Amino acid sequence: MGILDKHKAIETHATLLLVLSLLVVAIGGIVQIVPLFYLENTIEKVEGVRPYTPLELAGREIYIREGCYGCHSQMIRPMRDEVERYGHYSLAAESMYDRPFQWGSKRTGPDLARVGGRYSDEWHQDHFYDAKSVVPESVMPPYGFLADNIIDGRYIQEAVETNRMAGVPYTDAMVENALADFTSQADPNADTSGLTERYTWKEDGGTVVQAFPKSINIRNFDGQPELTEMDALIAYIQVLGTMVDFSTFTPVANR
Ligand code: HEC
Repeated sequence: MGILDKHKAIETHATLLLVLSLLVVAIGGIVQIVPLFYLENTIEKVEGVRPYTPLELAGREIYIREGCYGCHSQMIRPMRDEVERYGHYSLAAESMYDRPFQWGSKRTGPDLARVGGRYSDEWHQDHFYDAKSVVPESVMPPYGFLADNIIDGRYIQEAVETNRMAGVPYTDAMVENALADFTSQADPNADTSGLTERYTWKEDGGTVVQAFPKSINIRNFDGQPELTEMDALIAYIQVLGTMVDFSTFTPVANR
């Protein structure tokens, strides 16, 4: 019996064909998926990438809640036109603490992976109230109501803990001080030394060396006395793509 005859036996037996097809697909699937469970092996660690501060994390949740990803991607592809428009292509490490990541697949608006620091907070306030006031041809909807939504961070510790459970390396101190760090980041008069110490860090072979010089944004992001969703969202937008210092970064392949 030749190999084709053997194959005929499979092709003429529906159940056997189904079982064997599933087996083949399962093997292919496992080969693709399993390595992703060992992210430490697949993501190159890059200096500067840190977990989001509690306020940035809250902003990220507002970003998800409002469906901003429906019009914006956060992934700059390594192609010349993208790099020229948006900056250095996105590194896997830059979204390693995103649960879930916000790469997106639709660009009605521009990519936001490196929008942090590109505009002032005031520009973002104006843009969220009425995008056409700064970009006349814009079709972005208004989000001014975010400035009326006062937030007290009552769930912020749980949010940080949940992210830790999902694998983001928040320390005990970060969890314990989540609420204090949440409120102080938007208050220039608060004592923010603890916040700065906890989040300006770098990792060295598993142990955290608190020596990373990069500062974090501490200011009143929405320009109002109350802490609002607008503060959180702008704090998040302003950190996007700013963690890695590309003047010193060299990919492993070029070292
Ligand atoms: C219906 C689609 C749509 C949605 C939803 C949307 N945007 Fe936009 N966004 C745009 C478009 C189009 C532009 C480009 C014109 C402009 O700057 O307004 C833009 C621009 C921006 C910019 C400026 C980017 C740059 O590099 O100039 C930021 C920041 C931004 N959006 C943030 C957000 C956030 C945050 C949300 C969710 C709260 C959001 N957008 C929701 C369509 C959208």
